Amino acid sequence: MKLFNINQIKFQLIGDKSIAHRAIILASLNKNKNIIRNFPKNDDVLTTLNALSKFGLIYESNNDTLYIDSSKINFNKKNIKIECNESGTTARLLLGLLVGKNINAILSGSNSLLSRPMKRVISPFQEFGANIDAINNRLPLTVNKSIHTAPFEYNLKVASAQVKSSLILYAMNMNGISILMGKIETRDHLERLLLHLGYPIKIFKDKIKIKGNVKIKNKIDIKIPGDISSAAFLMCACILKVNSSIIINDVCLNNYRTGFIDAVIKMGGKICITNKKNMFGDEVGDIKVSYSSNLHGIQIDKKEIVTMIDEVPILSVLALFADGNTVIKGIDELKIKESNRVDAIIANIKLMGGQACEKNGSLIIKGGNRLYNTNIKSYNDHRIFMSFFIANSIISAKFQYDKNDKSYTKSFPDFIDKINEILS
Ligand code: S3P
Repeated sequence: MKLFNINQIKFQLIGDKSIAHRAIILASLNKNKNIIRNFPKNDDVLTTLNALSKFGLIYESNNDTLYIDSSKINFNKKNIKIECNESGTTARLLLGLLVGKNINAILSGSNSLLSRPMKRVISPFQEFGANIDAINNRLPLTVNKSIHTAPFEYNLKVASAQVKSSLILYAMNMNGISILMGKIETRDHLERLLLHLGYPIKIFKDKIKIKGNVKIKNKIDIKIPGDISSAAFLMCACILKVNSSIIINDVCLNNYRTGFIDAVIKMGGKICITNKKNMFGDEVGDIKVSYSSNLHGIQIDKKEIVTMIDEVPILSVLALFADGNTVIKGIDELKIKESNRVDAIIANIKLMGGQACEKNGSLIIKGGNRLYNTNIKSYNDHRIFMSFFIANSIISAKFQYDKNDKSYTKSFPDFIDKINEILS
């Protein structure tokens, strides 16, 4: 029996969203002409780009290549209002950058971002002496000019790459070597990009040392690898669609991002990684997937969640079609994403006739129930929409969805076209 058949559909995905945010921010700091290839033009990343253009960042795009000129950037502008729309990464990363540069600015947002917690990222800077106003630690945030240039030692209390990156961007403006400890084991794209650019950052198992006030000498000239969080949707659709087979080339396989792949293989999904290489400091490879008929439920432990934090909604869909129960522990962080994803997953599964619940801090999904098409309740959350689009399409190709729901453009604007290549 062949594991992968010859009617394999090939995909090349747009660049990773987390890397793109960080590449744009670093491009704004080096006073240089930068080139970012395979640039993802999704809502979140464009939000970061527009925010930095307020300080004089000039950019131009040609197909998927973005040219960024930061030679005229001026961070000394007063009272700039930055619109973060619904992008938590923009708000949290830019806060560290702006506070570090002692800039007067307002960071505002819209919809779900207005209710997402910011204390995790405000508190450390306030401890260092920053003057930030926020009602209930929510957006809008007002960053007031205040002098604080001493390097810091900080113990990260939440395992959040957004908070870690924000602190690193802040440390890059301090006079001396800052040290980050605690929960630093999260996606490390910023650290890798900085190392790639020759910036003095040192990464140890238990700490990160960042030297401040050092100019980034090199220009950025990179190709962003494909986004594994978007690839996860194609992988799931392929696993569930009878006789399908795909290959997704050049996907970022950063070891803090591959938990979904490990989990699906454990469930009995046919996935194989080839052509592993290093691209501009990050791990990259091709992912081959084929239809997998015998999926079974698994248990995900709390410590594994960080490596699949954005993939839990789509993993829950696979669990629906697997034999037995899937138990996902350590789900607290899921409740503060674009929606309360635990509630959103349970609500959609129940609507479809499936069984899911939250019990003792775990999300439990029962596989194998007879399922029915329903309207997707996306809660304006891109990953909830895409997950239940796939679940409904697998139940029936005739499934109708609300064409006005464009939540998926936050991360994956060509989701519908790409997924229909597999499902239709
Ligand atoms: C991201 C980190 C994760 C992830 C988000 C993107 C990033 O959030 O959920 O989609 O680019 O740093 P946390 O760092 O808050 O876990």
